[in-house]
Amino acid sequence: MENTLFYGDNLDILRKRIKDETVDLCYIDPPFNSKRTYNQIYLNIGEDKAQAFVDTWKWDSYAVSGYQEIITNYEGRFTSQVIELIKGLRNVIKEGSLLAYIVSMTLRITEIQRVLKKTGSFYLHCDPTCSHYLKLVSDAVFCTKGGDFQNEIVWSNESSSGYKTQVKNKLVRGHDVILFYSGKGSVFNTLYLPLSESTKKRYDKTDENGKKYKIYFEDDGTERKQYLDKSKGRKLSDCWNDLPSFQTVNVNREWLGYPTQKPMVLLERIIQMSSNEGDVVLDAYCGCGTTIAVAQRLKRMWIGIDITYQSISVIIRRFEDTFGKQISDSIILDGIPKDMESARALANKKDDRLRKEFEKWAILTYSDNRAIINEKKGADKGIDGIAYFLSSQTDTEKIVFQVKSGKVGRTDIAAFITDTNSENAQIGIFLTLEEPTQPMRQAAMSAGNYEHKLMGRSYNRIQIVTIKEIIEEKKRLDMPLSLEVLKSAKPKSGQIQEQILDQTE
Ligand SMILES: C[S@@+](CC[C@H](N)C(=O)[O-])C[C@H]1O[C@@H](n2cnc3c(N)ncnc32)[C@H](O)[C@@H]1O
Repeated sequence: MENTLFYGDNLDILRKRIKDETVDLCYIDPPFNSKRTYNQIYLNIGEDKAQAFVDTWKWDSYAVSGYQEIITNYEGRFTSQVIELIKGLRNVIKEGSLLAYIVSMTLRITEIQRVLKKTGSFYLHCDPTCSHYLKLVSDAVFCTKGGDFQNEIVWSNESSSGYKTQVKNKLVRGHDVILFYSGKGSVFNTLYLPLSESTKKRYDKTDENGKKYKIYFEDDGTERKQYLDKSKGRKLSDCWNDLPSFQTVNVNREWLGYPTQKPMVLLERIIQMSSNEGDVVLDAYCGCGTTIAVAQRLKRMWIGIDITYQSISVIIRRFEDTFGKQISDSIILDGIPKDMESARALANKKDDRLRKEFEKWAILTYSDNRAIINEKKGADKGIDGIAYFLSSQTDTEKIVFQVKSGKVGRTDIAAFITDTNSENAQIGIFLTLEEPTQPMRQAAMSAGNYEHKLMGRSYNRIQIVTIKEIIEEKKRLDMPLSLEVLKSAKPKSGQIQEQILDQTE
């Protein structure tokens, strides 16, 4: 399999596209059931942000059909332990948002177990909100099929808890939980950390050659010398408090503005421990692509999946910035509209969760990721996206976008002109799936021109762009002075995390 980035719901993709026992290592960092909405933070433009993904759950038709799939053992996918567990949880926690979350995770963890090789490893990143339920589910899925629970890793990231000031009558949460499972014969490269100063002090004896050592006793009581210069360090435990928290990494170079982005050192550690070069690494909730970017750097094969185009666009940009533009030629991008048929399919997706995905894809693709998705709150309902361009050395002006996937007519353009004016935007771009009519083009022309003094160019104030032009002619926003809004990833460096000394015992 080639390195592939899938845009879509991981349940569909895992079921339809990924074969049994083909993956060596899977790390997932799914929504935690935090009941929050996470926003993508954009650069250069003050407080602008757009919804990246929503982590609230409802007992809705998806939850009901997922629950029924499990208890009726749809296509023989579920073990009796999983079925009994979910039925039991329904009796205890009742139908509601928590059960909806657990059902969603059970469906997906079941597929992850199927695609993992028998010798594969699974890391599930979560937090104490649901880690206890996820452990029950993962035990039921993995341990009944030859896998073993290996560790509950505590990743101490106290300084990243942004809620400290709001916490009352309880302790500040200072850690995430990573549940680790693996099958018999799985890869496990022991990692070592440098010895602490206090441990080094215990090497308090010096031999005739001036080398420091300490005495230790074997189980049978035999006395042995252990030399400081031969020590590999201390074996990594399940309590990870030595990694820089994301907040400190964030300020220097890695932060891409993606909410819940994990630091690369965390993924380096997991990938180095549980895979070797050439192995296949899967991240089915890949966010801004930390896992797959580290996998690429460490010469693993990878599969990434995310359900929002915002993630996919950040990942494409991250890869190009880190590994060079040509990297796109060696990655398969799957699920991103490539022709009119797939664009229509995305526009017509019935799934409520994907309702805005067509708009996001159209705006981010046409603007080369330089626009911000508008969440349509308040009065600016007709505006789906915004971009900024330099109008002088010190000032910027706005471009607004509207996307239409249905029938369009002259009145849509008239309304868009009004929206563009009330947003104080200089340029409005109307992206349409259907071909515009002649009266629409005339209405757009009637809005006049914008004179870009810095560029010495004149632009139509209202521009109509068709999805066909975006796909077939690769038409893109012709405004070179737009500010870049996605933060660049640092170019690849060969440097791997320092504290890992050795991978072999
Ligand atoms: C917590 S974030 C992952 C962050 C990631 N570890 C990183 O470092 O950037 C979870 C991601 O899962 C994605 N997601 C949620 N439900 C999904 C689904 N059903 N299929 C695929 N991706 C999904 C969200 O869009 C979001 O990007």
